[in-house]
Amino acid sequence: MNVINEFKAKAKLLKGKVVLPETHDIRVLEAAQIILKQSLANVVLVGIEKEIKAKADEKNICLDDAEFIDPNNYNEISEMEDFFYEKRKKKGITHEEAAKIIRQPLFFGALLVKFKKVNGMVAGAANTTGDVLKAALQVIGVRAGLKTVSSSFIMVVPDFLGEDKIFLFSDCAVVPNPTALQLADIAISTAKTRRSLIGDEPKVALLSFSTKGSAKHELVDKVVEARKILESRGIDFELDGEMQADAAIIPAIGASKAPGSKVAGRANVLIFPDLQAGNIGYKLVERMAKAEAIGPVIQGLSAPVCDLSRGCSVDDIVNTTALVLLLSQ
Ligand SMILES: CC(C)(COP(=O)(O)OP(=O)(O)OC[C@H]1O[C@@H](n2cnc3c(N)ncnc32)[C@H](O)[C@@H]1OP(=O)(O)O)[C@@H](O)C(=O)NCCC(=O)NCCS
Repeated sequence: MNVINEFKAKAKLLKGKVVLPETHDIRVLEAAQIILKQSLANVVLVGIEKEIKAKADEKNICLDDAEFIDPNNYNEISEMEDFFYEKRKKKGITHEEAAKIIRQPLFFGALLVKFKKVNGMVAGAANTTGDVLKAALQVIGVRAGLKTVSSSFIMVVPDFLGEDKIFLFSDCAVVPNPTALQLADIAISTAKTRRSLIGDEPKVALLSFSTKGSAKHELVDKVVEARKILESRGIDFELDGEMQADAAIIPAIGASKAPGSKVAGRANVLIFPDLQAGNIGYKLVERMAKAEAIGPVIQGLSAPVCDLSRGCSVDDIVNTTALVLLLSQ
């Protein structure tokens, strides 16, 4: 199963535009060339055209079809400055500070997303996850109806009960110890991510070490509380919990431990109770079941930003561009 190629084919149809702010990194310029050549998306590169092209020329990278925006020469920069100052003045920043911050590539890129000049931003080749998330949180903010930005991994598990199966695991990278309310937000975001990226119906299991009251503990109570919050919000996807991982994904165990559940044994979205469980869980499945782990996909923002690992390859940047486009739908 080549999930990435499927993402790229679907993303291409959207004819979108992405901003790549880290133009001092040669991998980003190489990726921009490929994205343009494959007609995956239009690309905005942040910085001074002459300087970026000179750097690209040294490596024979052609960026003729790219769009270049220099924050210091952008006609909407003062609107952006006002917007950012208004949003962050409660934190005590001055206009002068706002003007400086928004000219930084990550913040300027996030502003291009916020101002709907592009469909999304791909960054993190040359910045930490924390820095990318901070720019996204401060500029773009959380999706209406939610309070939590989180992440998910797309886990492509080979030969799972006889077929390749795609699961979404969340949260494995952002929220260390979610409250019941945050867990509910994480479940809603991951269901949406599943619909945007995989295109099928999410069946969401809230994982625990207890299935339907089999164990009593305050850690279990949090997961039960999250389910109640979700039910009270009138969600439009199948959900159940608390349940153990085997009850969530193995039909016979689901049927015996949670009879009558529409999710048990059939879950395709697994919500972990905290970051330790989620991070350990995805790494074990990746290593022991030889699953492909795609992500982390940042979710819960009001417009998409995708984070890269600083060790990313040029292909990773191209592939992540496809993800950001699909998330923008
Ligand atoms: C996400 C992260 C950058 C936020 O740090 P922070 O110091 O709270 O960042 P900021 O102060 O810039 O946050 C801006 C706002 O977003 C809020 N916020 C922080 N995390 C949030 C989240 N997960 N969801 C929604 N809002 C969040 C903050 O409370 C703050 O709100 P305020 O401006 O009203 O006070 C930080 O928690 C982090 O680095 N997490 C680890 C990510 C990581 O490295 N993961 C492992 C790699 S895979």
